[in-house]
Amino acid sequence: MSTILNLFQDQYPSSPPLWFMRQAGRYLPEYRDVRKICQSFLDLCYTPDLAAKVTLQPLDRFDLDAAILFSDILVVPHALGQHVSFEETKGPLLSSLSLSSYQESLNFEQITQNLKPTYETIELVKEKLPSTTAFIGFAGAPWTLALYMLEGQGSRDFAKAKQQAFEQEDKFTQFLDKLVEAVSSHLIAQVTYGVNVLQLFDTWAGLCPATHFEKWILQPTSKLITLIKKSYPHVPIIGFPKGIGQNLVDYGRFSGVSALSLDAVTPLSWAAKVLPQELVLQGNMDPVMLVSGGYALENTVQVIHEQMNKRPYIFNLGHGILPRTPIKNVEDCIKWVRRLR
Ligand code: CP3
Repeated sequence: MSTILNLFQDQYPSSPPLWFMRQAGRYLPEYRDVRKICQSFLDLCYTPDLAAKVTLQPLDRFDLDAAILFSDILVVPHALGQHVSFEETKGPLLSSLSLSSYQESLNFEQITQNLKPTYETIELVKEKLPSTTAFIGFAGAPWTLALYMLEGQGSRDFAKAKQQAFEQEDKFTQFLDKLVEAVSSHLIAQVTYGVNVLQLFDTWAGLCPATHFEKWILQPTSKLITLIKKSYPHVPIIGFPKGIGQNLVDYGRFSGVSALSLDAVTPLSWAAKVLPQELVLQGNMDPVMLVSGGYALENTVQVIHEQMNKRPYIFNLGHGILPRTPIKNVEDCIKWVRRLR
């Protein structure tokens, strides 16, 4: 069977390997059952046997080529000492943090110690996972983490965080450097404990102005990848710089990623043409298409395949699975991907 791992080993399967961003989550009744017995979402992330169970749930149900560690990008700010909680209707809430005082309120030394439960989760999953199934570890990219940390919550424009960044540009750049170190140590530890692919989520990369793209997205990402490659030169790293448009060309060429996860608005035929041939592409079906299902979904699977134009790619969504996604549509989608040639 085709796997993500053999894609990274230069063996191109005829039908693409597949997994889904947020494949473990609220659209699965068995996830909701486990979630109910935990006080908070972070409790679930930090309880290794439950986090391992939830990681494996989508693989028990569906024919997928990868497991993704069950955790969250915001465990990094939490492990650095910022208060983080997840409210049912409001999304994540973080205690306030400013560029002038973060050094006093955060502790950059303890991160991997504080994230031990996550590494234990990896060991538990690894025991159960077939060796042909890729095991993806992940973290948020420095820019996206910095936005959440300075904004204190999710936002459409992260204007409060960006204003701080613009007003104290040097301090913000130093803050990103500290996050590069923290994120790299977390990703390196994940590989040490057993994941064999990494994905870097830069969900809000599209909010970085073009004038600062090189300084705040490209340089921190490439520093981060250089640090990881010093410890693990061969681990494949998938970058997901959502919403960056034409800057994908520079990101693909200069960040050091092995693969690029494309959002749903990126034209695949353009990406397949302008991005270096050795980069594996991933994506990019609209998550709402998986909610809709039926003929539109079947057709879109075919169109994505044709637009990739025989280039090695991993079938995935352009963003995470939505909680209202019908399970039948996920099953159909997998069936239709498996018969592509
Ligand atoms: O299956 C997987 O993909 C692995 C687990 C995973 C989660 N979050 C679990 C989760 C991964 C890879 C993430 C990444 C993540 N988390 C991102 C980057 C990708 C993206 O979706 O843009 C971001 C920005 C976050 C931060 C975050 N976590 C937000 C904004 C929210 C609230 C919104 C929401 O969907 O509820 C979360 C909570 C969260 N993370 C849930 C899950 C399953 C839902 C919470 C719950 O079950 O109570």
